[in-house]
Amino acid sequence: MTQISVPGPINKLGLKEIESQLALCPSLPSLGSINKALQGLLHAEQRFSAQISEIIRRDPSLTSRLLRLVNSVYYGLTTPVNSIEEAVFYLGVRQIRQLTMVTPIIEDFQRLTRQCNFPWREFWQHSIGTAILTREVISTVQAPNDETDYVAGLVHDVGKIVMAWSFPDHFAEIHRQALQGTEDLAKIETEILGLDHAELGALYLERHRLPEMLVKTARFHHHPEKADRYQQVIASVQVADLLLRSEKIGCSGNYVPVTREQCLSASGWAVLFPNAQEAEQAIARASLHRSLERLPSVLEGLV
Ligand SMILES: [Fe+2]
Ligand SMILES: [Fe+2]
Repeated sequence: MTQISVPGPINKLGLKEIESQLALCPSLPSLGSINKALQGLLHAEQRFSAQISEIIRRDPSLTSRLLRLVNSVYYGLTTPVNSIEEAVFYLGVRQIRQLTMVTPIIEDFQRLTRQCNFPWREFWQHSIGTAILTREVISTVQAPNDETDYVAGLVHDVGKIVMAWSFPDHFAEIHRQALQGTEDLAKIETEILGLDHAELGALYLERHRLPEMLVKTARFHHHPEKADRYQQVIASVQVADLLLRSEKIGCSGNYVPVTREQCLSASGWAVLFPNAQEAEQAIARASLHRSLERLPSVLEGLV
């Protein structure tokens, strides 16, 4: 895969130029198969763990990720976990199902980002952390019935990966300015490239015919109240994203610190709790806080 570079000075681009460059960004096979994977794994709960182990064993990278994860989450174990059966026992089917889904997506993305100077490992922690926490946030208001909210959390910032691949010079300059931590990332992106990562990610997912829910999540994850559909999922992604940034878990590439007050006043809360249900919100926040405390050790094991 060859990296395309923009020659000469870094100029702001028009939508036409952005779209024609975007057309060259390869599609990610794992994203295309998300729907299939979701359906295939949806009923995994009913399968015996022996069958699940068999599926995992066929995939060496998944096997090693899984063992790393279980050993880091349960670091107190006197003997490390070395077998898939044991890992399935400790982690439970749900976590394994999620891991099965994210592994190919991450590996695909990593192929796109190898050549860029950016804290990618921390970025994966941000993406996976948002995925895990999105599920926790949405669970406070509804019973999640599939894994789509998890995938929405995982790909919300896909625009940054696409930007790094399609506009490497712009991306490098944006990252250089963002590091100062004084100006919001989306604003810097719009000033330098002409478009922010939310819109770029949405255009990319649209081009590759990903489900509308993922497209809208990418587009509106900073402003869930503006979305005309899927508001609860998108609001959950926004809240998860801000919580991770305020706790400095992983790195989203946006270095402006997020305060606790900003987290509490995020527009997503009003979407999730439209009738100002203060008591329910307080309960939700307390349980999210516990999840946040566990998250760093889970993420260490994953990427
Ligand atoms: Fe974002
Ligand atoms: Fe993010």
